[in-house]
Amino acid sequence: MTIPKYEVITLFENIKKEYCYGNFLNGEWAFFDKCLDIIDPTSKKLVGRISQMKHEDVDNAIESCSSAQKEWGKMPTNERAKILHKAANLLVENQDHIADILMHEIAKDKKSCLSEINRTADFIKFTADEGERTIGEALNADNFPGVKTNKLAFVIREPLGVVLAISPFNYPINLSASKIAPALIAGNSVLLKPPTQGALSAMHMVEIFNQAGLPAGVLNTITGKSSEIGDYVVTHPKIDFINFTGSTKVGKHIASISGMVPLIMELGGKDAAIVLDDANLEDAANDIVSGAFSYSGQRCTAIKRVIAVDSIVDKLIELILPKVKELKVGNPKDSTITPLVNDKAKDFVLELMHDAEEKGAVRLIGGNYEDNLVYPTVYDKVTEEMRLAWEEPFGPVLPIIRVNNIDDAISLANKSQYGLQSSVFTMNINNAFYVAKRLEVGTVHINNKTERGPDHFPFSGIKNSGMGTQGIKYSIEAMTRRKNIVLEYN
Ligand code: NAP
Ligand code: G3H
Repeated sequence: MTIPKYEVITLFENIKKEYCYGNFLNGEWAFFDKCLDIIDPTSKKLVGRISQMKHEDVDNAIESCSSAQKEWGKMPTNERAKILHKAANLLVENQDHIADILMHEIAKDKKSCLSEINRTADFIKFTADEGERTIGEALNADNFPGVKTNKLAFVIREPLGVVLAISPFNYPINLSASKIAPALIAGNSVLLKPPTQGALSAMHMVEIFNQAGLPAGVLNTITGKSSEIGDYVVTHPKIDFINFTGSTKVGKHIASISGMVPLIMELGGKDAAIVLDDANLEDAANDIVSGAFSYSGQRCTAIKRVIAVDSIVDKLIELILPKVKELKVGNPKDSTITPLVNDKAKDFVLELMHDAEEKGAVRLIGGNYEDNLVYPTVYDKVTEEMRLAWEEPFGPVLPIIRVNNIDDAISLANKSQYGLQSSVFTMNINNAFYVAKRLEVGTVHINNKTERGPDHFPFSGIKNSGMGTQGIKYSIEAMTRRKNIVLEYN
């Protein structure tokens, strides 16, 4: 096979052989015969290859996690915290190079790549500190009616065992670390299955954990075709917890086959920005444009529909359009709107746009594309008959839906199968809370775009957007179990 020009200079040569990255297994990089190509979405050149593992390789990785966890779980939390702090510092030291790899691999703009890495380092440090503050509780038995004996319950937290972390392409470093760090500080070992497109960046972070002194087997990785190893790993009897971020389709499939293993699922979204007639429209327009179009809309929390009351829609559009025109479109080195991750993603976005246009949506800007670079597109007069009103494009296209009043806005927002986040823009605090209390979502932002951070806030999706809660303290809680030790005394 002829290898096309290899674009990225790998930071750590030891993690790959020729063009193919290995997997980190039991403290060493292991290499495999078969590999999958990773293509830069912008240049369409090969940026690396990733190992294609088989079932027996997955077994070995899980076995190693399982035996390493026993010692790791006994290590004092403050010593585990030191390793996490070291990893965070190394990530910051190497940020520029790793950001380049990330930029080439998933076509995220360089500024956002750097911000993803720094945010991840902050996440790891905060998690290490939070882990050191994790405490149990003591309960008196005689608080309960009828209890005569003297008993005291010591409720302590214990690790679950082996955590399987599965992350998506759009934040391969941050959404891997946001599972790894809380699991590790709580004393679990982690098996990381990074996204195929994103695995090169994720493997760099894994090597950083290695350099920080993580004991062998505490963090192992697996890669390969999901159709070959996906079901196998999620149903493996030695997996004690699954922490998944990705599409609703795959998340539901995993939930349906994984049995009694506890799960956190962070899935798709169709976040609405509800704009009421008393909103500060200039601020709302700014938030809507950055919320909808950063990383070309490839964020679970991107604003994916505007629901605005009729009386202010025209004024809002007047403010939105010039800001969309200003968005820089092109190469991730210096643009906000960058090529979508692959052709399939681009085709899906175009399909939703065509459906909307056929059914009468009015295109206000955009609609054009070059290869998989789709220009930022805004539609007015989107109606409930159009797929764009309900489906998640994961691309730079924003539908505006007109409604008569506040209650119609709430009712339309809640008709969605998704329940991740919503925004409400209004200067009336009573209206803000009226809407916030009625929206069926995990988080409501008042006068702010939808977004996951800050990362110590609880982040959860309801309905088809997921189950369980992430966020530093909440993730640690989810990946530990309560153990009750009862003392009877005279
Ligand atoms: P995806 O196709 O569902 O993939 C997510 C991860 O699951 C990848 O690592 C993928 O591996 C793996 N996977 C696929 N099939 C599997 C199977 N049968 N068993 C085990 N693992 C399997 O999602 P994506 O395209 O990467 O990400 C975009 C989606 O994620 C969007 O829907 C977005 O809304 C959602 N998302 C949600 C959140 C949130 O917090 N709510 C955050 C980010 C993204 P391969 O890459 O090898 O296929
Ligand atoms: O893609 C989903 C991420 O969890 C969104 O995070 O709101 O910080 O971009 P973000």
